[in-house]
Amino acid sequence: MKIDVEYLQFMWPMRHFLISCGDINDKSNIIAASFCMPVSKEPPLIACAIGKKAYSSKLIESTKEFIVNVPTKELKAKIYYCGYHSGHEVDKFKETELTPKPARKVKAPIIEECVAHMECKVIQKIETGDKYLFIGEVVEAYADEKVVKGEKKIEYVVGDFPFKVYAIRFKGL
Ligand SMILES: Cc1cc2nc3c(=O)[nH]c(=O)nc-3n(C[C@H](O)[C@H](O)[C@H](O)COP(=O)(O)O)c2cc1C
Repeated sequence: MKIDVEYLQFMWPMRHFLISCGDINDKSNIIAASFCMPVSKEPPLIACAIGKKAYSSKLIESTKEFIVNVPTKELKAKIYYCGYHSGHEVDKFKETELTPKPARKVKAPIIEECVAHMECKVIQKIETGDKYLFIGEVVEAYADEKVVKGEKKIEYVVGDFPFKVYAIRFKGL
């Protein structure tokens, strides 16, 4: 027998990313995001679906920039903190003690503890249902040298379906 399900549950597991946005000298924020994928190699483009009501959407709409930071499993608890709290209410850099460092080409900070960073400039914003799909051109991409050369082994965060997020925040995402 097959029963009806929340379709999203069967799209997972998905890799978890931390997207930083805003301005390092003003307001910046971090969102946990998994609805994130490459959509072109040349030019290099990444598409991220971000909730219309998320504080991150507001910041990305105003700066037209964001950074996809790649966290490792040591950061799992901080990823979930960023996924369960909103920048509308808390300063996530302060609360998680993740370190904001200047990026190369965008105003948002990179998250120092992550192993790789893709700086993106938004070239298109598409309205989907409850999300905006931000398509960003990757203007800089850099990573920990030891990880790139295979001298340091890391584990990415590929989590299970975050029932808690969808139970609590599904309508507000
Ligand atoms: C593992 C994980 C993945 C998530 N992926 C996304 C996502 O891809 N897009 C999205 O809009 N929200 C996603 N969320 C939920 C947001 O991180 C959450 O709504 C957050 O509070 C929004 O923060 P903001 O208001 O500061 O932008 C995810 C949460 C978790 C825990």
